[in-house]
Amino acid sequence: MSLVCFPFKEEDVSVVVRNIECAASHPSIAGVLCVGFSKGETWHAIESAKSAIEQSTGKSVILLQQRRIGTSLRGGKGDGMNTALVYFLDNTEYHRLHFYDADIVSFSASWISKAEKQADLDYDVVRHYFPRSSTDAMITWLVTKIGFALLWPNSILPAIEQPLGGELLVSRKAAEILIADQRVRDQSDWGIDTLYTFVMAQAGLRMAEVYVPEGKVHALYGGLQDLRTMLVECFAAIQSLRNEVIVTESRYRIENPRPVPEAVKQKIGYNIEKTLKLLKSNWSPRQKELLQEYFDPALANGMLHAIEWPCWSFADEEAWISAYQKFLDHFEKGDFDWEELLFKIWVARVLNHTMKNVIRGYDAALGALRDLIWETQHNAAIQLKASSEAPASNSAHAI
Ligand code: DGY
Repeated sequence: MSLVCFPFKEEDVSVVVRNIECAASHPSIAGVLCVGFSKGETWHAIESAKSAIEQSTGKSVILLQQRRIGTSLRGGKGDGMNTALVYFLDNTEYHRLHFYDADIVSFSASWISKAEKQADLDYDVVRHYFPRSSTDAMITWLVTKIGFALLWPNSILPAIEQPLGGELLVSRKAAEILIADQRVRDQSDWGIDTLYTFVMAQAGLRMAEVYVPEGKVHALYGGLQDLRTMLVECFAAIQSLRNEVIVTESRYRIENPRPVPEAVKQKIGYNIEKTLKLLKSNWSPRQKELLQEYFDPALANGMLHAIEWPCWSFADEEAWISAYQKFLDHFEKGDFDWEELLFKIWVARVLNHTMKNVIRGYDAALGALRDLIWETQHNAAIQLKASSEAPASNSAHAI
């Protein structure tokens, strides 16, 4: 039997309670663990609903406040998920642990059944993936997938469809590997999904992705400003791993997607008008110096022009890949100017994608994102091959 964990902060209470009830009613589930960031309104609502759900389903509902497991980074989602891993490992009656975001309006029993069935085929990790709007998932595409493609092009990482997804199932073996890893325990912030995905691949776990056709309907964000902390923490997580190697092969399987629902295709993932203002906000003299010192002149000049008037054509795919590599080498998390530069250059890239690709339609936009990942992965793999062959050809010269 399995355990379902819903990490939560302040959410729509009726959605959370409904999801807990739904998970507890599932025949494969023996318990539902709700891990709260703090004891606010949502916490108290779950506390009030708990015994009625336990009585009607005959399953346990456990309410826990997240522990401070990491010590150096902000305490956030990472501490919440790691608290659940520790609980799961201590309670050996559960064989598998599922994670679902608490605010998913479209959550249903089939999310659990799909993951359970796939895990029956001996996968250590089953991840859910779903159709997303062409302006959504901009950290996933432009930060995480690009980072995976650049740094580990020959691993399974670039192929993972939604590496930041918070909906997944882990076996006891996977949970043990994750929590034994100091890097995972330290990653108490938004970087946790990156760390989980990376460590799963590095450990050679057997991974599958299952498709949820109805998509994840949840609370959306306004301007891209709402994603700033997440962007910085996800990028810093990739940067912290940049010297790691992956030598093991993982078994990996992905369920084919289905046609994307019209509602998802037509959704605009962020507020464009609010976002335009971000290009000219919070500039400091030092940011301009860093821009000119480290980045390509075309990008630097473009960013400086955008202070006067919103523009983005300079932030094309090539410019982003080049800037990304500079950030990998020089970015300093916690340094406001570096964080602002990362954020504003990413904003320009998202606007460029929106105005150049998204206006050509959903398929063109997704095609452009996929091409970018593939081109990046291919170039990185070729470079890696060339550099691994270099010593051999040098020594041949020496002979
Ligand atoms: C992502 O990029 O996947 C984040 O969830 C924001 O959409």
